[in-house]
Amino acid sequence: MLQYHWRCWAEWRPESWELNLVAVRDGVVVGTQGVSGREFGVGREVSTGSWLGRAHHGQGLGTEMRAAVLYLAFTGLGAEHAVSGAYTDNAASLGVSRKLGYRDDGIERHVVRGKPAVLRRLRLTAERWREHHRVPVRIEGLAECLPAFGLGDHRSGA
Ligand SMILES: CC(C)(COP(=O)(O)OP(=O)(O)OC[C@H]1O[C@@H](n2cnc3c(N)ncnc32)[C@H](O)[C@@H]1OP(=O)(O)O)[C@@H](O)C(=O)NCCC(=O)NCCS
Repeated sequence: MLQYHWRCWAEWRPESWELNLVAVRDGVVVGTQGVSGREFGVGREVSTGSWLGRAHHGQGLGTEMRAAVLYLAFTGLGAEHAVSGAYTDNAASLGVSRKLGYRDDGIERHVVRGKPAVLRRLRLTAERWREHHRVPVRIEGLAECLPAFGLGDHRSGA
């Protein structure tokens, strides 16, 4: 896990970045929430991925974590689309996507531990996000970081 995070830091470039944040509750790290972009300054699309410790599942935290990075993406960075994906048996992840307004975006067939598995791709537009966004989020200190996301002098209203 550490190697993965070190690699993401080392390989960060404005045209290809992956920001892995942690979710903290009562001073304890309970999960990680990632958001990534490739040629984001032009394409305006992000991808997300989340992991929450088992003891913290089913309490709405997964929804809050994803909503937080979607706020960063759409309001802070000016994203136009966000994509995600979950295997068909991952009801919790699909539940988070449903609540936040994602729509189906096709499937991918993978092989997981030697067995076929279907991944449902999901896509959220800025317009749908504005309709479904309910979680209050505050961003601090973003302006100085915008060039690192490939945004030059872009300024958000956040
Ligand atoms: C995916 C994950 C982040 C979701 O977090 P969570 O905090 O458990 O989800 P929430 O409590 O916010 O639930 C979101 C919705 O899904 C539903 N849901 C949650 N777990 C569910 C389950 N096991 N079965 C059916 N529905 C479920 C909830 O009821 C909720 O909908 P509702 O508010 O309308 O009732 C978490 O389960 C996780 O880390 N899983 C392992 C890693 C993983 O699969 N990551 C995603 C890879 S694509």
